[in-house]
Amino acid sequence: MNSFAALSQAFEQRFNIRHFPGQPATLYDPAQYILGLGGKRVRPVCVLMGNELFSEINPDAYHVGTAVELFHNFTLIHDDIMDKAPLRRGMPTVHARYGESTALLAGDVMFAQAYEYLARIKPDHISKILHLFNKTTREVCEGQQLDMDFEKLDSVSFEDYVNMITLKTSVLLAASLQLGAILGGAGESNQRHLYEFGKNLGIAFQVQDDYLDAFGDPEKFGKQVGGDIIANKKTFLMIHALETATPTQLVSLKELMTLNPPDKVEKVLQLFIDCKVDEWARELKEKYLQTALAHLEDIAVLSVRKKPLQELAAYLISRDK
Ligand code: IPE
Ligand code: IPE
Ligand code: MG
Ligand code: MG
Ligand code: MG
Repeated sequence: MNSFAALSQAFEQRFNIRHFPGQPATLYDPAQYILGLGGKRVRPVCVLMGNELFSEINPDAYHVGTAVELFHNFTLIHDDIMDKAPLRRGMPTVHARYGESTALLAGDVMFAQAYEYLARIKPDHISKILHLFNKTTREVCEGQQLDMDFEKLDSVSFEDYVNMITLKTSVLLAASLQLGAILGGAGESNQRHLYEFGKNLGIAFQVQDDYLDAFGDPEKFGKQVGGDIIANKKTFLMIHALETATPTQLVSLKELMTLNPPDKVEKVLQLFIDCKVDEWARELKEKYLQTALAHLEDIAVLSVRKKPLQELAAYLISRDK
């Protein structure tokens, strides 16, 4: 059993190749560009950890991990277009550098390439793996649509927010773990608990992502700090502020969202601080972490095997990028 660091290194060694043909370079270089910017490689590591929880690494786990990371990067390219984001992993986003039309296509070929890797795995598990992969893809699209729909609403309930982030973010972490578990020969019940572990951890992961978008260190974070505020995203910070603001604060907040003044980000950040979003972030992450860990607890394998996943959970909710 291996740590996050060891598994991400093992994955990176195999992943750090060119995944696309040379020509036309105007399409494939942009696709390769974002992959070369690094990233934490959390999802392929989840595939490997999901596998290692039950048995030695099945070589197919690297193909599935590659497919999942390609899929993730495809969603990032399209997400950055949708979010009008200028920066990703400390560098210009694909559309900022190569234009929106090319970015759309670079994402599309990456998605196709993901299936090329899935096609390499042994036939025994392929049907289950494809089904889970495709279901997850649909759910991510649903979550991304809700995320955009919510930008236009004055307020969103906490429940709707959790549903949206579960779809756009958590299900991919959950599925990555389950894909690994399938390859590791896990039984249905263990697979289900591992999926629920990933789903709850993924919610805490997105809470941290939303937090960093507002309060991250621009040097480390690698994305535009305040981007969610500019886009009127209904993050947990915004929802909490809308729910707990005094009547005067509420008027300011709504005005800032409709008028978009030049000092919008700093003003909204101050309102967030006044509404004690820090405390709320801690509570939320803790709540979902505990639910995640309870599911991990229920997986019927020796508890020493669970250590890397417990460490992964601690890292994901306290990360600074
Ligand atoms: C960013 O994911 C998109 C979200 C779902 C929040 P990561 O934070 O895993 O991004 P990279 O791959 O490490 O850059
Ligand atoms: C994106 O959520 C989730 C997906 C890419 C599917 P965000 O829009 O919050 O992700 P970042 O912050 O741009 O990485
Ligand atoms: Mg985004
Ligand atoms: Mg987004
Ligand atoms: Mg974000």
